[in-house]
Amino acid sequence: MKDESMPALPLSKSGREALEVATKIVKEAGGILKAHFLSEKEIRSKGKRNLVTDVDLLVEKHIVTCLRNEFPDHGILAEESSNIVGDGGYLWILDPLDGTANYTYKIPFFSISLALTYKEEVLLGLIYEPLREELFWAQKGKGAFLNKSPLVVPSRKISQATIVGFDLGYDDERTREILALLNSFWSGEKGFRIMGSAALGLAYVACGRLDIYLHPSVYPWDIAGGLLLINEVGGEVIDWGWKPATIRSKKVFAFGKNNLQTAAAIMNILKEHSE
Ligand code: IPD
Ligand code: CA
Ligand code: CA
Repeated sequence: MKDESMPALPLSKSGREALEVATKIVKEAGGILKAHFLSEKEIRSKGKRNLVTDVDLLVEKHIVTCLRNEFPDHGILAEESSNIVGDGGYLWILDPLDGTANYTYKIPFFSISLALTYKEEVLLGLIYEPLREELFWAQKGKGAFLNKSPLVVPSRKISQATIVGFDLGYDDERTREILALLNSFWSGEKGFRIMGSAALGLAYVACGRLDIYLHPSVYPWDIAGGLLLINEVGGEVIDWGWKPATIRSKKVFAFGKNNLQTAAAIMNILKEHSE
């Protein structure tokens, strides 16, 4: 059924669909990340473990300029710059480089996350991994895709291992909390992966490369694109109190539709750690 409360996706100033424009922008930006991947960068610390490089800033500037040209009325919430307030409820949410620590250490696992929201609901979500040229994208109500193929979450046999991806974030107290939590629900059949890119962690749940993903302290730019991807394939992202996660959630727990049993077992432990 058509959701009447959701507006149609806006056309850009040059008359193109928002999805087409966003796709072009993230691919161009991915080219910039790729071109600088192996070169030395200027690195600055924003806090303990929290890095930013000159390439983060370059990519953000490029994307924000393109968005401003094509959608002059829209707001923009981008990780490295001040908010741009728009008219009419549309807001782009951007992480120009998710996985800066990986990128800085030349670990080939990072992404760009760009989402278009309308009154806090995600309409479009794109997560681009430039080294493998993998674009995970979703449009609300129209499914989720990896490049040109629809995403299908594989069903797994119960005897197979569960792979749980997670990240620690930059808040010491929450980092300690998730480490204790992981320890409390670890069992022999669970494999753990620290991802280093929250956006890709969520994209990997959406395509079934991870069964579960957990994070104790995210920002809207880490998760906006991934929330839509997972919802569009029938998975769920909840906060740690078992309510549907929103772009403003801090603690997130994502799982595919084939992992309800494991998710439910972990849920009870998470509830004790909810805010
Ligand atoms: C970070 C990554 C990391 C996660 C942090 C995020 P950044 O994003 O997603 O995996 O643990 O919480 O902030 O700083 O590389 O954009
Ligand atoms: Ca990030
Ligand atoms: Ca970032």
